[in-house]
Amino acid sequence: MKVSYRAFGCSEVEVRVIYLLENKLTLPKEELNKNISYAQGRNLFNGKNGELYTFTMDLMGNYQTVVLVGLGKEEELNLDKIRKATAKAIRKAKELKANKVFLRLPVNNKLTVEEMAKNATIAAHLADYTFNKYKTDKEKENDIVVSIGVHGLKEASSEVLEAIEEGNAIGKGIILARDLVNEPANVIYPETLAQAAIDAGKENGFEVEVYGLEKIKELKMEAFYSVAKASEKEPKLIVMRYFGNPEGKGEILGLVGKGLTYDSGGYSLKPTSGMVDMKSDMGGAASVIGAMSIISRQKLKINAVGVIAACENMISGSAYKPGDIIGSMAGKTIEIRNTDAEGRLTLVDAVTYIIEKENASEVIDLATLTGAALVALGDTTTAVVTNNDKFYGELKEVSSYTGEKFWQLPSFDEYKEMVKSEIADLNNSPGRNAGTITAGLFIGEFVKDKPWLHLDIAGTAWADKKTDLTIKGGTGSPVYTLYELVKKKSK
Ligand code: BES
Ligand code: ZN
Ligand code: ZN
Repeated sequence: MKVSYRAFGCSEVEVRVIYLLENKLTLPKEELNKNISYAQGRNLFNGKNGELYTFTMDLMGNYQTVVLVGLGKEEELNLDKIRKATAKAIRKAKELKANKVFLRLPVNNKLTVEEMAKNATIAAHLADYTFNKYKTDKEKENDIVVSIGVHGLKEASSEVLEAIEEGNAIGKGIILARDLVNEPANVIYPETLAQAAIDAGKENGFEVEVYGLEKIKELKMEAFYSVAKASEKEPKLIVMRYFGNPEGKGEILGLVGKGLTYDSGGYSLKPTSGMVDMKSDMGGAASVIGAMSIISRQKLKINAVGVIAACENMISGSAYKPGDIIGSMAGKTIEIRNTDAEGRLTLVDAVTYIIEKENASEVIDLATLTGAALVALGDTTTAVVTNNDKFYGELKEVSSYTGEKFWQLPSFDEYKEMVKSEIADLNNSPGRNAGTITAGLFIGEFVKDKPWLHLDIAGTAWADKKTDLTIKGGTGSPVYTLYELVKKKSK
């Protein structure tokens, strides 16, 4: 899909989407007003948020289907409503087999044309998204071309055009993350995940270096390697570098993504029900690749490095076992109490690597780390553990704009005690209590004094059912927020 700007009034579209505010239900075109009054008179459409009403009429000499989408009261208008209304309308347009869709944004005094255009563009991409490449009997999908306009704005300003282009880049980045998560583990394994990063780097302009087993051993990444060693598939350390601010070389944002291309649990084996969706255990890695793509596509003035320790957690005679004591790149020893708490082991070596070898001055790690995050916050909110309230404040601020939700969990000293081991420095599984916090704080033991945000996306990277902006499967969350956070820092 591609979204572009279009001056208001084009005649060749098949579906015209008109966003309407509850208190501004009249339009400049009389024939449209008649239809709206009719719908209102029969109580079929009142402009309430979430309402949708469709009719077909002769507009400027052409038959067109008009989809009215309600946004509610003007004073309560926000970007979330624009995104959801757009998604509803695009799905309706697909149902109507439209190829050319025009979105007429509402004239209002709450949101700028630029931010509406950008967010409508993103939502259009997300609502259009499907993953049915493995269905052999599928109907051919209609390829939608979307154009956006606002009444009274005939010539698009360069700001509006840029906003739409930014929306296209963000939409594509989120979809890349979704695709990578939705691909099964027999297709996406460490080597092919690395190839996907290389391809994204070529397309968007960041550098990618991929290290294999030899280098992983040379770097003494024993925690990472212990998880990887039962698999037939060679682990890969994927490093993505983007230096958009060469003068500020001292400031490098490190993005670390959990890259378990499959998590069987290892000898602490998961039940089948817990295993079926574990191709999604590289959701953090997918988000980092998606975010790096947008950051470099948009040429942000910032330095960002992404690191993924990609591997599979499997079973074999050479697997690591509960009770093992292993080392790590940072030199700390770890008692393995549960081989299913593998993500934190791969992550601590990736975090050490990004700080020591890539000189990251701040770190964000993203990981589908604990089922406990789902229990605590459900599938709408990402759990956060941090050592820096200011950094968290920045995240919260941009998230109120992107609509993705985050919530900080406490990191009291008592929790930090729980990750200590009786026989080694740390233990990888202190038990069920406070599971998301202790998993995060385990990683926190390796971030040194760097400002750090740990995002547990176990609940938010995957949707069990269709929602306004997602289908069942990978959501691409929190690519949008990550990009906006980096953009904010680049200013
Ligand atoms: N990948 C899982 C976490 C997960 C669970 C992600 C459900 C998405 C949905 C992780 O590696 C894991 O198995 N964590 C264990 C930790 C426990 C053994 C301390 C868990 O959450 O049960
Ligand atoms: Zn696991
Ligand atoms: Zn896992």
